[in-house]
This record gives sequence, C-alpha cells and structure tokens, in this order.
Amino acid sequence: MATTEEYGLGIHQFPRGWFMIAEADEVQNKALPLRFFGRDFVIYRGESGKVFLMDAYCPHMGTHLGGNTTSYVVIDGQIEGDSIRCPYHAWRFAPDGKCDDIPYHDGPIPSAACIKTWPVTERYGCIYMWHDPEDGEPDYDLPDLPEWDAPHWVRWKIDHLGMLPSHPQEVVDNICDCGHLGPIHGSTLEYFENEFRGHLAIQRQGGGHKTLAEGAEMLETDTWYTGPGILLSRVTGLYDAIMYITHTPVDDGSVKAWHGLMVKVENAEPTDEDVTISREYQESSRLAFAQDFEVWTSKRPVVQILQIKSDGPFHKTREWYRQFYNPRSEAAVRQQKVDGVYTVKWMPPAPEAVSASGKY
Ligand code: FES
Ligand SMILES: [Fe+2]
Repeated sequence: MATTEEYGLGIHQFPRGWFMIAEADEVQNKALPLRFFGRDFVIYRGESGKVFLMDAYCPHMGTHLGGNTTSYVVIDGQIEGDSIRCPYHAWRFAPDGKCDDIPYHDGPIPSAACIKTWPVTERYGCIYMWHDPEDGEPDYDLPDLPEWDAPHWVRWKIDHLGMLPSHPQEVVDNICDCGHLGPIHGSTLEYFENEFRGHLAIQRQGGGHKTLAEGAEMLETDTWYTGPGILLSRVTGLYDAIMYITHTPVDDGSVKAWHGLMVKVENAEPTDEDVTISREYQESSRLAFAQDFEVWTSKRPVVQILQIKSDGPFHKTREWYRQFYNPRSEAAVRQQKVDGVYTVKWMPPAPEAVSASGKY
C-alpha cells in the first residue's frame, strides 16, 4: 500500500467530506466502536432516536467508551437519555461531549473533562459523518435521493464489503477508467465521457454489459461522486436502478466499502416477488463491483500512472481528488483547473439528451 503523502495528494492525511461510517440498523441504544481516518470513535443512538459520534477515549483515564461488555455500567445500560457513561468510573458525557456527571464527586467538573464530537446524519438507511481536518462546517450536502421514499422503488439492503488494503485514490481512479470496462465487466461501450463540476466527478457511459445486463442491449449509467467517497449511479437497462458504492478511509492506505442497489419495479407497493427480483439484481451489481475489487485487492499501488492518450483523464481525476486533501480556501481554484467535460478519442461522448438529463 501507499500513503496519502506518497500519492502527493496534499497537506491533510485524510480527506474532507461526507463519509458513510455505519448502516443505520447497526447503531442502536448501545455503544459501538468504530475506526476511520486513523482514529477511534464511539457511536450510539440516544433515547431520542438521534445518533451521536464521539472520539472513543475517556479524558479521565483513557478508557474506550465502546465495545466493553462486562462493566456494570454497560450491563445496566450505558446510554442515559442522549448521554453516554464511561464503563470504567461511570463519568457521563452529554451529546456535546462535556462531562456532566461524576457519580462519586460533587465538586466542579473540570472543563478538560470533554470529548470531541463529530457531525453525523442519517440518510437512506446509512449513517454519515462529516470529516474535516480544518474542523469546518460541511461545504456541500449529501446527495438528494427522492427515490428512497418514492412508490415503485425497492430500497437497498446494504452489502458490507469489508476492508480493502488500498488507498482510496485507487478506487477513485475508476471513475474515469474507460479502458477497464471491456476487460473487467464485458462492456461493449458505445459512448463514454467524464465531467468534473466542483465537488462532483461524473461519468456517463452506455453499451452492453455482460455482468449486469446480460440479455439487455444497452446498460446506461450516469454515475457521480458527491465528494471524495460517495458514489451513486442512475442505471437504465434491464431495470431502472440506483447503484450505491461508498468507501471511507480507515487508516492511511486502507478503506472500508459498502454497496447497495435500489430497483424500480412495476408495482407501486412492491410485492415479495418484486423484492426478490431487486435483491437478485443487487447481487449482480455487487458481483460487477467485485470484479473491480478483486483487482484492487492484489494490485500494487500506482503512484504514477503510465497514462497513454487513449486512457480516460486520470490526471484530471487525481487533480479533482486533491481538493479534498488541501485547505478548503484553495478548493475553488483547484476546481477551476479541472471543471469541464472530458472525452476519449476512441469513443463518442454521451448523447446530448443524456448529458442534459443528469440529476446530481
Ligand atoms: S476512565 Fe472514563 S470514567 Fe474513568
Ligand atoms: Fe469497474
């Protein structure tokens, strides 16, 4: 594996952005340990139903707040209202991270008895955190996905793909990699183009696709990254569908990944059969992504791509990706350098109607 510094991405080891950190169902009324961005966290759902994310370690004596099973604090219920108690000496921390109760002490509580908290939000069955090395407010929103609540749509059931011992740069390169679509996915490409637009990186392609659309003439995908880690794709072919692939850095040079697929079915109120069909289609989609995953699992890192003219715009993709590893005050200038549509010589661009219809 190679590190952020070896790829020359920027001054921050981990990127700024919205990132998936758990499936919503995993986060219940107890403390769950998580590790992302080279850092340990604890996540829990308070009694109000809201989800809270904090650094893992208690300021008193360094106990990890998540993952304990034998302390009576945990056995008796570690979550009180929207607060959490430490398993070791039962200090209680409010949702803002401040200690507000020490059971064996009535004097003032030191102001240093405080844990760093992180912004989280719950959308489409997933929990996202805003990670920002500069500690700023989010400078873009999570994607809008009206289909999640719309009739005819079967929601995804998240696939946990586990850890990939690869820097996320290798995953992001894929957005412009038109040359791998034939060999890896059996695609017979008919058009391909990329567009960079601010914090979005977009890929539009269409053609036959052996893994995902055997039997259908065309599989068209309008795929986009919202920030550095969340990829969605509006798919048409056998069915209308929305593919979701997301990855979050764990340590410098490894990521955790998840996948899902929502499918549009005939019945406004999907039947059991509709759900079965959707799950089968999701599995084909997972297998298509697994074809990429297999390559990433064993390839060596590529700090410098031996790029030829007929490759997709790898250099632009990497330039786009760097905006998230550098101060946000530089983001606009970096975006101006790459914003625009990119095509390859051997493939027509997307038809105008396709480019114009994008909803990101
Ligand atoms: S280590 Fe957390 S309360 Fe003592
Ligand atoms: Fe791929």
